[in-house]
Amino acid sequence: MKSAVVLISGRGSNMQALVESAPGLDFRAVLSNRPEAAGLAWAAGRGLATRVVDHKAHASREAFDAALAAAIDAFSPDYVFLAGFMRILTPGFIDRFPNAILNIHPSLLPSFPGLHTHERALEAGVRLHGATVHFVTPALDHGPIVVQAAVPVLDADTPDTLAARVLAQEHRIYPQAARWLAQGRVTVTPAGVVRVSGSGVSTDWAISPRDPS
Ligand code: GAR
Repeated sequence: MKSAVVLISGRGSNMQALVESAPGLDFRAVLSNRPEAAGLAWAAGRGLATRVVDHKAHASREAFDAALAAAIDAFSPDYVFLAGFMRILTPGFIDRFPNAILNIHPSLLPSFPGLHTHERALEAGVRLHGATVHFVTPALDHGPIVVQAAVPVLDADTPDTLAARVLAQEHRIYPQAARWLAQGRVTVTPAGVVRVSGSGVSTDWAISPRDPS
């Protein structure tokens, strides 16, 4: 069975979705850069190991990343899932886990990398918004896309209502990506495009809101 750790900074609802809906992965630990992250209590309650690597206790980004990498290495995971982990990781950290770090981002990348994605989507007037699961590369919120889900933007939307509609899709597609990884079905082409093998499933097919798998 493939193994994983999850990195969080806050509430941890995507971490919960992963743990509950990707049973084919051995989740070995939940790590946070914030001691007060609410998701830590949920993880501990589920019997998962939890660790805090507080970024405020480290003098530089490199020192924090080295401590974080050491904490991750202690669990020897196949995959590292960023789930609302709000720290920019150094290239040196990312290079230590090649094609093994996944992130979920609340927009249809490459649109709206960075923060405040829902506000920016409303300001831009896009009619479709969504969420993206991608492999992490040194470029922020960039990297081979595993799966996306799109939602309509409604005239009455506020950033909060739009965020809630997107979050429901995040909770669907992140476990979906995790299940594909657990099944060994995900490859990245030399050009940096993800292919999902088997059963005629492709990432295009998976953007359907009615995706049952
Ligand atoms: C999620 O919406 C996730 O996509 C976003 O933070 C939220 C965390 O919620 N991540 C990013 O913006 C990363 N760039 P959660 O803690 O309940 O999973």
